[in-house]
Amino acid sequence: MAPKVLITGASQGSGKATALLFASKGYDVVMVAREPDRLAAAAAQVQREGTSAIAIAGDVGDIQQVRAIVQKALDACGNIDVLVNNAGICLAGAIEQTTAADWQQLINTNLWGCINTIQEILPHFLEQKTGTIVNVGSIGGKMPLPQMTAYCTSKYAVTGLTETLRVELAPKGIHVCAVHPGVINSDFLERAQFRDRDEQAVALRRQQMTEILKSPAASQPEDIAKAIWDAVKNKRSEVTVGPAFLASEAYRLFPGLMQWAMEKGKL
Ligand SMILES: NC(=O)c1ccc[n+]([C@@H]2O[C@H](COP(=O)([O-])OP(=O)(O)OC[C@H]3O[C@@H](n4cnc5c(N)ncnc54)[C@H](OP(=O)(O)O)[C@@H]3O)[C@@H](O)[C@H]2O)c1
Repeated sequence: MAPKVLITGASQGSGKATALLFASKGYDVVMVAREPDRLAAAAAQVQREGTSAIAIAGDVGDIQQVRAIVQKALDACGNIDVLVNNAGICLAGAIEQTTAADWQQLINTNLWGCINTIQEILPHFLEQKTGTIVNVGSIGGKMPLPQMTAYCTSKYAVTGLTETLRVELAPKGIHVCAVHPGVINSDFLERAQFRDRDEQAVALRRQQMTEILKSPAASQPEDIAKAIWDAVKNKRSEVTVGPAFLASEAYRLFPGLMQWAMEKGKL
Protein backbone atom coordinates (compact mmCIF):
# COMPACT_ATOMS: atom_id res chain seq x y z
CA MET A 1 0.00 0.00 0.00
CA ALA A 2 1.34 3.44 -0.94
CA PRO A 3 2.38 5.81 1.89
CA LYS A 4 0.26 8.95 2.24
CA VAL A 5 1.26 12.59 2.65
CA LEU A 6 -0.98 15.56 3.42
CA ILE A 7 0.46 18.88 2.21
CA THR A 8 -1.00 22.30 3.01
CA GLY A 9 -0.50 25.21 0.61
CA ALA A 10 -0.20 22.64 -2.17
CA SER A 11 -1.83 24.50 -5.07
CA GLN A 12 1.39 26.25 -6.15
CA GLY A 13 4.97 27.14 -5.21
CA SER A 14 6.87 24.85 -2.85
CA GLY A 15 3.72 22.98 -1.79
CA LYS A 16 2.89 21.90 -5.34
CA ALA A 17 6.55 21.02 -6.04
CA THR A 18 6.52 18.89 -2.86
CA ALA A 19 3.31 17.13 -3.97
CA LEU A 20 4.90 16.32 -7.34
CA LEU A 21 8.12 15.05 -5.73
CA PHE A 22 6.34 12.83 -3.18
CA ALA A 23 4.10 11.48 -5.97
CA SER A 24 7.20 10.59 -8.01
CA LYS A 25 8.45 8.67 -4.93
CA GLY A 26 5.26 6.61 -4.83
CA TYR A 27 3.21 8.52 -2.25
CA ASP A 28 -0.52 9.13 -2.48
CA VAL A 29 -1.03 12.84 -1.92
CA VAL A 30 -3.71 14.92 -0.17
CA MET A 31 -3.46 18.55 -1.25
CA VAL A 32 -4.93 21.48 0.71
CA ALA A 33 -5.32 25.19 -0.19
CA ARG A 34 -8.20 27.67 -0.14
CA GLU A 35 -8.87 28.46 -3.81
CA PRO A 36 -10.49 25.29 -5.21
CA ASP A 37 -9.92 25.68 -8.96
CA ARG A 38 -6.19 26.20 -8.76
CA LEU A 39 -5.96 23.37 -6.22
CA ALA A 40 -7.89 21.01 -8.51
CA ALA A 41 -5.60 21.90 -11.44
CA ALA A 42 -2.52 21.18 -9.27
CA ALA A 43 -4.01 17.85 -8.16
CA ALA A 44 -4.70 16.90 -11.79
CA GLN A 45 -1.03 17.61 -12.55
CA VAL A 46 0.06 15.35 -9.67
CA GLN A 47 -2.31 12.58 -10.83
CA ARG A 48 -0.47 12.57 -14.16
CA GLU A 49 2.51 11.19 -12.16
CA GLY A 50 0.33 8.05 -11.94
CA THR A 51 -0.50 8.40 -8.27
CA SER A 52 -3.61 9.26 -6.27
CA ALA A 53 -3.98 12.98 -5.53
CA ILE A 54 -6.97 14.31 -3.62
CA ALA A 55 -7.73 18.04 -3.47
CA ILE A 56 -9.48 19.29 -0.33
CA ALA A 57 -10.16 23.03 -0.27
CA GLY A 58 -10.03 24.86 3.05
CA ASP A 59 -8.36 27.45 5.26
CA VAL A 60 -5.70 26.11 7.63
CA GLY A 61 -6.34 29.04 9.96
CA ASP A 62 -9.87 27.79 10.71
CA ILE A 63 -9.92 24.85 13.13
CA GLN A 64 -13.40 23.67 12.02
CA GLN A 65 -12.28 23.54 8.40
CA VAL A 66 -9.07 21.73 9.35
CA ARG A 67 -11.07 19.16 11.34
CA ALA A 68 -13.20 18.48 8.25
CA ILE A 69 -10.13 18.35 5.97
CA VAL A 70 -8.35 15.78 8.16
CA GLN A 71 -11.51 13.68 8.47
CA LYS A 72 -12.02 13.69 4.69
CA ALA A 73 -8.34 12.78 4.16
CA LEU A 74 -8.57 9.86 6.61
CA ASP A 75 -11.87 8.66 5.11
CA ALA A 76 -10.35 8.70 1.63
CA CYS A 77 -6.86 7.33 2.45
CA GLY A 78 -7.36 5.21 5.55
CA ASN A 79 -4.26 6.72 7.13
CA ILE A 80 -1.73 9.56 6.84
CA ASP A 81 2.03 8.99 7.22
CA VAL A 82 3.41 12.49 6.68
CA LEU A 83 1.99 15.97 7.37
CA VAL A 84 3.69 18.88 5.59
CA ASN A 85 2.68 22.25 7.04
CA ASN A 86 3.68 24.47 4.16
CA ALA A 87 0.83 27.04 3.80
CA GLY A 88 2.13 30.48 4.66
CA ILE A 89 1.92 34.15 3.78
CA CYS A 90 4.36 37.06 3.99
CA LEU A 91 4.05 40.64 5.19
CA ALA A 92 6.82 43.25 5.11
CA GLY A 93 6.61 46.70 6.62
CA ALA A 94 7.61 48.83 9.57
CA ILE A 95 5.98 47.92 12.87
CA GLU A 96 4.10 51.22 13.09
CA GLN A 97 2.44 50.49 9.75
CA THR A 98 1.52 46.90 10.65
CA THR A 99 -2.13 46.78 11.72
CA ALA A 100 -3.81 44.51 14.24
CA ALA A 101 -5.60 42.84 11.33
CA ASP A 102 -2.23 42.20 9.63
CA TRP A 103 -0.89 40.55 12.79
CA GLN A 104 -3.98 38.40 13.11
CA GLN A 105 -3.95 37.22 9.51
CA LEU A 106 -0.26 36.38 9.62
CA ILE A 107 -0.28 34.55 12.95
CA ASN A 108 -3.51 32.82 12.05
CA THR A 109 -2.10 31.39 8.82
CA ASN A 110 1.57 30.83 9.62
CA LEU A 111 1.30 29.69 13.25
CA TRP A 112 -2.29 28.58 13.89
CA GLY A 113 -2.27 26.89 10.47
CA CYS A 114 0.44 24.55 11.81
CA ILE A 115 -1.12 24.15 15.25
CA ASN A 116 -4.56 23.32 13.82
CA THR A 117 -3.36 20.55 11.51
CA ILE A 118 -1.12 19.07 14.21
CA GLN A 119 -4.00 19.11 16.73
CA GLU A 120 -6.24 17.25 14.30
CA ILE A 121 -3.73 14.70 12.95
CA LEU A 122 -1.90 13.95 16.19
CA PRO A 123 -4.50 11.54 17.69
CA HIS A 124 -4.21 9.52 14.47
CA PHE A 125 -0.37 9.51 14.60
CA LEU A 126 -0.42 8.54 18.29
CA GLU A 127 -2.81 5.70 17.57
CA GLN A 128 -0.71 4.32 14.73
CA LYS A 129 2.47 4.99 16.81
CA THR A 130 4.25 6.57 13.85
CA GLY A 131 4.13 9.65 11.65
CA THR A 132 6.20 12.59 10.45
CA ILE A 133 5.37 16.28 10.81
CA VAL A 134 7.29 18.77 8.66
CA ASN A 135 6.82 22.45 9.47
CA VAL A 136 8.01 24.82 6.77
CA GLY A 137 9.49 27.77 8.64
CA SER A 138 11.79 30.41 7.23
CA ILE A 139 15.16 32.03 7.66
CA GLY A 140 12.93 34.58 9.42
CA GLY A 141 12.35 31.95 12.11
CA LYS A 142 16.10 31.61 12.72
CA MET A 143 17.26 35.24 12.64
CA PRO A 144 15.62 38.67 12.68
CA LEU A 145 14.77 40.28 9.34
CA PRO A 146 14.44 44.06 9.57
CA GLN A 147 10.94 45.43 8.86
CA MET A 148 9.41 41.95 9.03
CA THR A 149 8.58 41.76 12.72
CA ALA A 150 5.13 40.18 12.37
CA TYR A 151 6.36 37.61 9.84
CA CYS A 152 9.44 36.75 11.95
CA THR A 153 7.26 36.46 15.07
CA SER A 154 5.09 33.89 13.32
CA LYS A 155 8.08 31.93 12.01
CA TYR A 156 10.08 32.05 15.28
CA ALA A 157 6.95 30.62 16.90
CA VAL A 158 6.92 27.83 14.31
CA THR A 159 10.57 27.11 15.21
CA GLY A 160 9.65 26.89 18.91
CA LEU A 161 6.64 24.69 18.13
CA THR A 162 8.78 22.36 16.02
CA GLU A 163 11.74 22.05 18.36
CA THR A 164 9.64 21.51 21.48
CA LEU A 165 7.24 19.08 19.85
CA ARG A 166 10.18 17.09 18.47
CA VAL A 167 11.52 16.20 21.90
CA GLU A 168 8.04 15.49 23.23
CA LEU A 169 6.92 13.22 20.39
CA ALA A 170 10.17 11.39 19.52
CA PRO A 171 9.65 8.79 22.30
CA LYS A 172 6.19 8.14 20.85
CA GLY A 173 7.56 7.27 17.40
CA ILE A 174 6.63 10.58 15.76
CA HIS A 175 9.31 12.58 13.97
CA VAL A 176 8.94 16.39 13.90
CA CYS A 177 11.21 18.45 11.68
CA ALA A 178 11.64 21.91 10.20
CA VAL A 179 12.57 23.07 6.73
CA HIS A 180 13.74 26.68 6.63
CA PRO A 181 13.84 28.34 3.19
CA GLY A 182 15.52 31.64 2.47
CA VAL A 183 13.99 33.39 -0.51
CA ILE A 184 11.97 31.17 -2.86
CA ASN A 185 11.26 32.19 -6.43
CA SER A 186 7.62 31.08 -6.07
CA ASP A 187 4.33 32.91 -6.60
CA PHE A 188 4.25 34.14 -3.03
CA LEU A 189 4.23 37.79 -4.18
CA GLU A 190 0.59 37.15 -5.16
CA ARG A 191 -0.26 36.97 -1.45
CA ALA A 192 2.61 38.97 0.07
CA GLN A 193 1.55 42.27 1.59
CA PHE A 194 3.67 45.38 1.97
CA ARG A 195 3.10 48.26 4.35
CA ASP A 196 4.70 51.72 4.09
CA ARG A 197 3.90 55.43 4.42
CA ASP A 198 2.27 55.77 0.95
CA GLU A 199 1.48 53.82 -2.22
CA GLN A 200 4.71 54.82 -3.92
CA ALA A 201 6.79 53.45 -1.04
CA VAL A 202 4.72 50.25 -1.06
CA ALA A 203 5.33 49.87 -4.82
CA LEU A 204 9.06 50.35 -4.20
CA ARG A 205 9.08 47.61 -1.54
CA ARG A 206 7.24 45.26 -3.91
CA GLN A 207 9.71 46.10 -6.68
CA GLN A 208 12.69 45.39 -4.38
CA MET A 209 11.20 42.05 -3.38
CA THR A 210 10.61 41.18 -7.06
CA GLU A 211 14.31 41.84 -7.77
CA ILE A 212 15.40 39.68 -4.81
CA LEU A 213 13.19 36.82 -6.04
CA LYS A 214 14.87 36.97 -9.47
CA SER A 215 18.40 36.90 -8.00
CA PRO A 216 20.51 33.73 -8.35
CA ALA A 217 20.55 33.50 -4.54
CA ALA A 218 16.81 32.69 -4.57
CA SER A 219 15.86 29.02 -4.24
CA GLN A 220 13.37 27.36 -6.57
CA PRO A 221 10.22 25.62 -5.23
CA GLU A 222 11.82 22.30 -6.26
CA ASP A 223 14.75 23.00 -3.88
CA ILE A 224 12.30 23.27 -0.97
CA ALA A 225 10.56 20.08 -2.10
CA LYS A 226 13.91 18.24 -2.10
CA ALA A 227 14.71 19.59 1.39
CA ILE A 228 11.31 18.36 2.66
CA TRP A 229 11.92 14.95 1.11
CA ASP A 230 15.41 14.83 2.69
CA ALA A 231 13.99 15.77 6.10
CA VAL A 232 11.36 13.01 5.90
CA LYS A 233 13.46 10.26 4.35
CA ASN A 234 16.55 10.82 6.49
CA LYS A 235 14.67 11.84 9.66
CA ARG A 236 16.53 15.14 9.85
CA SER A 237 15.67 17.55 12.65
CA GLU A 238 16.08 20.58 10.46
CA VAL A 239 17.10 21.50 6.92
CA THR A 240 17.96 25.09 6.05
CA VAL A 241 17.82 25.60 2.30
CA GLY A 242 20.57 27.11 0.12
CA PRO A 243 22.21 30.43 1.08
CA ALA A 244 19.82 30.76 4.04
CA PHE A 245 22.06 28.20 5.78
CA LEU A 246 25.07 30.54 5.67
CA ALA A 247 23.04 33.51 6.92
CA SER A 248 21.48 31.60 9.82
CA GLU A 249 24.87 30.09 10.81
CA ALA A 250 26.46 33.56 10.72
CA TYR A 251 23.67 34.81 13.00
CA ARG A 252 24.05 31.84 15.36
CA LEU A 253 27.80 32.45 15.68
CA PHE A 254 27.87 36.27 15.61
CA PRO A 255 24.45 37.57 16.69
CA GLY A 256 25.78 40.87 18.05
CA LEU A 257 27.72 41.65 14.91
CA MET A 258 24.80 40.77 12.65
CA GLN A 259 22.37 42.85 14.72
CA TRP A 260 24.77 45.80 14.58
CA ALA A 261 25.02 45.47 10.77
CA MET A 262 21.21 45.32 10.48
CA GLU A 263 20.76 48.38 12.69
CA LYS A 264 23.26 50.29 10.50
CA GLY A 265 21.38 49.14 7.37
CA LYS A 266 24.43 47.21 6.11
CA LEU A 267 22.48 43.93 5.75
N1 LIG B 1 8.59 32.53 -0.91
C1 LIG B 1 9.56 32.80 -0.06
O1 LIG B 1 10.49 33.60 -0.37
C2 LIG B 1 9.63 32.13 1.28
C3 LIG B 1 10.74 32.33 2.09
C4 LIG B 1 10.82 31.68 3.32
C5 LIG B 1 9.78 30.86 3.74
N2 LIG B 1 8.70 30.69 2.92
C6 LIG B 1 7.64 29.81 3.40
O2 LIG B 1 7.49 28.72 2.51
C7 LIG B 1 6.13 28.30 2.47
C8 LIG B 1 5.65 28.21 1.04
O3 LIG B 1 5.87 29.44 0.42
P1 LIG B 1 5.66 29.64 -1.15
O4 LIG B 1 6.51 30.80 -1.53
O5 LIG B 1 5.77 28.34 -1.88
O6 LIG B 1 4.14 30.13 -1.15
P2 LIG B 1 3.10 30.49 -2.36
O7 LIG B 1 3.69 30.22 -3.70
O8 LIG B 1 2.55 31.85 -2.06
O9 LIG B 1 1.94 29.43 -2.07
C9 LIG B 1 1.25 29.49 -0.88
C10 LIG B 1 0.29 28.32 -0.82
O10 LIG B 1 -0.37 28.36 0.46
C11 LIG B 1 -1.79 28.40 0.26
N3 LIG B 1 -2.38 29.12 1.38
C12 LIG B 1 -2.13 30.40 1.77
N4 LIG B 1 -2.88 30.71 2.85
C13 LIG B 1 -3.59 29.59 3.15
C14 LIG B 1 -4.56 29.27 4.14
N5 LIG B 1 -4.96 30.18 5.05
N6 LIG B 1 -5.10 28.03 4.15
C15 LIG B 1 -4.73 27.10 3.24
N7 LIG B 1 -3.82 27.34 2.27
C16 LIG B 1 -3.27 28.58 2.23
C17 LIG B 1 -1.95 29.06 -1.10
O11 LIG B 1 -3.19 28.76 -1.76
P3 LIG B 1 -4.56 29.62 -1.48
O12 LIG B 1 -4.18 31.08 -1.50
O13 LIG B 1 -5.47 29.20 -2.57
O14 LIG B 1 -5.02 29.18 -0.13
C18 LIG B 1 -0.81 28.40 -1.87
O15 LIG B 1 -1.14 27.10 -2.26
C19 LIG B 1 5.36 29.30 3.35
O16 LIG B 1 5.20 28.75 4.64
C20 LIG B 1 6.29 30.49 3.40
O17 LIG B 1 6.11 31.27 4.57
C21 LIG B 1 8.59 31.30 1.72
